Amino acid sequence: MNKMAIYPGTFDPFTNGHLDIVLRSVRLFDHLIIAVTTNAKKTPLFSVPERKELIRKSLPEGGNITVESFDGLLVDYAEKRGSIIVIRGLRAVSDFEYEMQMALLNRRLKPAVETIFKMSSEEYSFLTSSAVKEIALLGGSVDGLVPSAVKAALAEKFKKHQ
Ligand code: COA
Repeated sequence: MNKMAIYPGTFDPFTNGHLDIVLRSVRLFDHLIIAVTTNAKKTPLFSVPERKELIRKSLPEGGNITVESFDGLLVDYAEKRGSIIVIRGLRAVSDFEYEMQMALLNRRLKPAVETIFKMSSEEYSFLTSSAVKEIALLGGSVDGLVPSAVKAALAEKFKKHQ
């Protein structure tokens, strides 16, 4: 059976923590879709096309990973793409409540959709996209926190804003 999974998020921007989840998930599936979306509660720094491009540049060559975007409900998108598996990362116990709520709501909306959780690698368990943006804005080093393409894009973005 051809098993496909979706890893959704706002990815504003994509970090090494996200990459860690992607690389450890892709081994389990024939195909992984990284699905970029907008979160109504967040004001993004990068546009959706910019975020997709940065993710593509951060992935290893070849491979069975594609980068897409969607609007609307995740479960509708998952159904449209023919995948019932959603991957989410868990960084710490504090993520659990929110993630469980989202997984249960998604299951209520579409019972076929299964959420699979991957534990974050320890070195990224503290990482968020917001923290990365704040560090870059304030002139700190994001080395080791984000892929090099994202580091360059952050430098460019904040240069323009100065
Ligand atoms: N490593 C590093 N950082 C991580 C991470 C990891 N493994 N996992 C999550 N993060 C970070 C994210 O970058 C994000 O940082 P930020 O808040 O500073 O931007 C933060 O942790 C929270 O991430 P997450 O919980 O994944 O939020 P999100 O906004 O990226 O994704 C969606 C949430 C998009 C999946 C969810 O809102 C969604 O499905 N939306 C579609 C609409 C829908 O179906 N709504 C009903 C849901 S019940």
